[in-house]
Amino acid sequence: MTFHDPTSYVDLSQGKINHIDFHIQADFSSRILEIEATYQTQESVTGSLYLDSFKIDMKEAHVNGRKLEWDFDASDEQLGERLHLKGFDGDSSFTLKFCTSPEARALQWMNASQTAGGKHPFLFSQCQASNARSIFPCQDTPSVRFTYSAEVEVPNELTAVMAAEQAKGPEGSGTFFFNMPQSIPSYLFAIAVANLGFRELGSRTGIYAEPEVIQAAAWEFAETEKTLNEAEKLLGPYLWGRYDLLVLPPSFPFGGMENPRLTFLTPTAILGTRGQVSLVTHELAHAWTGNLVTNATWQDFWLNEGWTTYAETRITEILEGKEVADLNAVHDEKRTLEIIKRVGLDSPTTCLKVPGDGKDGDSFTSILAYTKGCFFLKECEYAVGRERFDKFIQKYMKSFQFQSLTTEGFLDFLKTELPEVFEKVDVQTWIYKPGMPEIWHKPHSHLYDEVENVLRDYEQGKLPTKETVKDWHRNQILSFLQELPKTTSVEDCKYLEDVLELNQRNDDYFYTYFYSICIASGYQDVMPRVEDFVEKIGRMLYIMPVVRAMVETDWARDRARPLLERVHEKHHPVTIAALEALLKKAGL
Ligand code: BES
Ligand code: ZN
Repeated sequence: MTFHDPTSYVDLSQGKINHIDFHIQADFSSRILEIEATYQTQESVTGSLYLDSFKIDMKEAHVNGRKLEWDFDASDEQLGERLHLKGFDGDSSFTLKFCTSPEARALQWMNASQTAGGKHPFLFSQCQASNARSIFPCQDTPSVRFTYSAEVEVPNELTAVMAAEQAKGPEGSGTFFFNMPQSIPSYLFAIAVANLGFRELGSRTGIYAEPEVIQAAAWEFAETEKTLNEAEKLLGPYLWGRYDLLVLPPSFPFGGMENPRLTFLTPTAILGTRGQVSLVTHELAHAWTGNLVTNATWQDFWLNEGWTTYAETRITEILEGKEVADLNAVHDEKRTLEIIKRVGLDSPTTCLKVPGDGKDGDSFTSILAYTKGCFFLKECEYAVGRERFDKFIQKYMKSFQFQSLTTEGFLDFLKTELPEVFEKVDVQTWIYKPGMPEIWHKPHSHLYDEVENVLRDYEQGKLPTKETVKDWHRNQILSFLQELPKTTSVEDCKYLEDVLELNQRNDDYFYTYFYSICIASGYQDVMPRVEDFVEKIGRMLYIMPVVRAMVETDWARDRARPLLERVHEKHHPVTIAALEALLKKAGL
């Protein structure tokens, strides 16, 4: 199947990189990684090889003992710079020496003061979608896979971890050895360096975190091994060896990132209630849906996230029960409709296969890929029954493991394996048309109905009491906050925060919705708290709606730019770029 990836400069007909040996030195004072990397290619290369790069400071290039000519011969704000290596002569190995930029888009270098312990600096990477090229020149497209090894040198008192197998290095020497025997696309390359402790969770699972948070983290995610066992029942054998978690500082831009063997996690998921473990279920499911079978381009992102959300809901149904799964499904349906309303009924971003040839990988990564993708797969399941669909899932994983796939490749497989799906489900509409189809199996949840009743009362002027909401599930409270009128009185804001006991729940997601309502309702006294929230938390799902509410509300609008200036030093480049884009769109 031929396809073009608009987010990359590479020309795969020149040869594909299939292995890299890294030597990496982390310099915290200059915020630079010094790297020597030896690349192997699958086919021998003659003439030129184009690689993606972003602000890479190239020092040397060698092939077979001779110098290799190179220059950066094209550049673009999104794509970065095209590194043009010249003069190959049937070679299948070459070495580059280079440094990353302090502005590397994948890396956040944090001061000690931004960590839980406050004594040591912290570095972490986030490569998805197209940021690996800011760490090392590469074919930065999810359709190319490579294995790698790495020797990493860090200051003595710090620990390096990677999304790879850790080989034992000499204790306390500051040198760490890694090996990644399973092939990965570049966006799954990951590294972190910090003062880290480790706890076993099970025989194949464990957790890394700063010593100050490791106990709470280990308790919160104690059930990870069980989740892994359930995931294997649904998706087939786990092929990556270990499954560990790494808890990052609150500036981590996502809830989680499915870096192979080592999921990166936000500390905002540590609630003290195990109330957000579905986040780990989600990232773990990616070990199959995404990491084994990978979207070939970011336009096929739903293949990663829709499938993962589907797997997450299936595993959650087993671990937390059908009632909770149904509640989550209705919650997701409402979020879906809300987003479609916001971006417009016929916005192409609501198609599962996102059209266009945008250069920004992140522009394809909408929430709709998650929820609409999951709802589509549920329709497929309904069409053939769970038993047959489950067999299909395992065959799908096995047939395409360690490969990349386009939407069209997936549909071909679906047609061969489950042709009846195409008789019962309007596949073309689901995949290629915007919005949601008219007819589908809409979810129902009596837990959600309870919330709706309280919302209806509220609209009629009857406020909920503590008694009403006392035993609500987390997602009932979230649904309630999400469905409340967007503006209300300041008095009601105060009442609702109290009655829902938001400040006792240690759950920042509630505040995403709550602050958005407060801002739109003119609750000006809340602003210092909003500013602290946006300053502390980098998780985009949590802060973007709040900042969006600011730019859309007259009195708060002018405070968005100064706030962004303040957080510049505190957040990951990915978060800053997203905030900048939001303000720019609003003309600020
Ligand atoms: N792979 C994504 C994170 C991601 C998406 C990074 C797009 C870069 C571009 C991860 O698996 C994810 O989906 N995280 C979600 C949590 C999930 C439970 C919905 C998040 O971070 O909110
Ligand atoms: Zn995901």
